[in-house]
Amino acid sequence: MKSSCGTRFAFLVLFLFAVQSVCVNAGTGSFHKDVKIHWGDGRGKIHDNEGKLLSLSLDKSSGSGFQSNDEFLYGKAEVQMKLVPGNSAGTVTTFYLKSPGTTWDEIDFEFLGNISGHPYTLHTNVYTKGSGDKEQQFHLWFDPTREFHTYCITWNPERIIFTVDNVPIREFKNSESIGIPFPKIQPMRLYASLWEAEHWATRGGLEKTDWSKAPFTAFYRNYNVEGCVWANGKSSCAANSPWYTQKLDQRGMNRVKWAQRNYMVYNYCTDKKRFPKGVPAVCT
Ligand SMILES: *[C@@H]1O[C@H](CO)[C@@H](O)[C@H](O)[C@H]1NC(C)=O
Repeated sequence: MKSSCGTRFAFLVLFLFAVQSVCVNAGTGSFHKDVKIHWGDGRGKIHDNEGKLLSLSLDKSSGSGFQSNDEFLYGKAEVQMKLVPGNSAGTVTTFYLKSPGTTWDEIDFEFLGNISGHPYTLHTNVYTKGSGDKEQQFHLWFDPTREFHTYCITWNPERIIFTVDNVPIREFKNSESIGIPFPKIQPMRLYASLWEAEHWATRGGLEKTDWSKAPFTAFYRNYNVEGCVWANGKSSCAANSPWYTQKLDQRGMNRVKWAQRNYMVYNYCTDKKRFPKGVPAVCT
């Protein structure tokens, strides 16, 4: 569909006001209480007593990162992020869930920086039993370096939903009935990081990281993870939490379509070169 700027904008306004109750940032978490800065030797910092604002930085010798103290088996993880401004080529800023081990599960939001004036790529992926290969990438409908925007992963027994400012951009459904593994037995921790991946993030090192601009800094605000906390071999949660049964209604599905039609720049499901024998079954 061809859409003019005007209709795109009208759609956007509609979508943004059609607020979905599940991923509204309540901002109830505290970085002091809920996470540990486990990487980066002082490059990660919490800025206030309440633990609402945290920054990660990256220089030539190291990046930095934090991880949740709790592990979860299902949950909803959201945070507001303001990404590295200016020339951010080669930097990757992340917010993801991951279980340990060699057959791990993982649910990713990764933001690939770009040279000044060029868009970030939001990379999403789902790993099950150590195997990913389910990438979808997007550009955003705003500049993610100017203001904070809310990114949210909902992971429940039936689906994984990625949302950006309350707009669902991707849904990965539980398709175990047709033999596709779904993350459901390995508890995951929430991680965030800022690291350098020049080769991966810039199409084979096409752009070089400009270290004269280092340190690079990204901000995280209003961290909030609710979930089924894993302890002593079992998880406990209120199964009647809204996120536990969240699904996309017609409006939600229309919003996914809108995001994918207008902003998706890569979809493994349509990459016939990569899957010459046919795209993965989960796509169809
Ligand atoms: C950088 O911007 C160009 C468009 O100007 C785009 O084609 C490319 O995918 C972007 N790279 C990344 C890593 O986002």
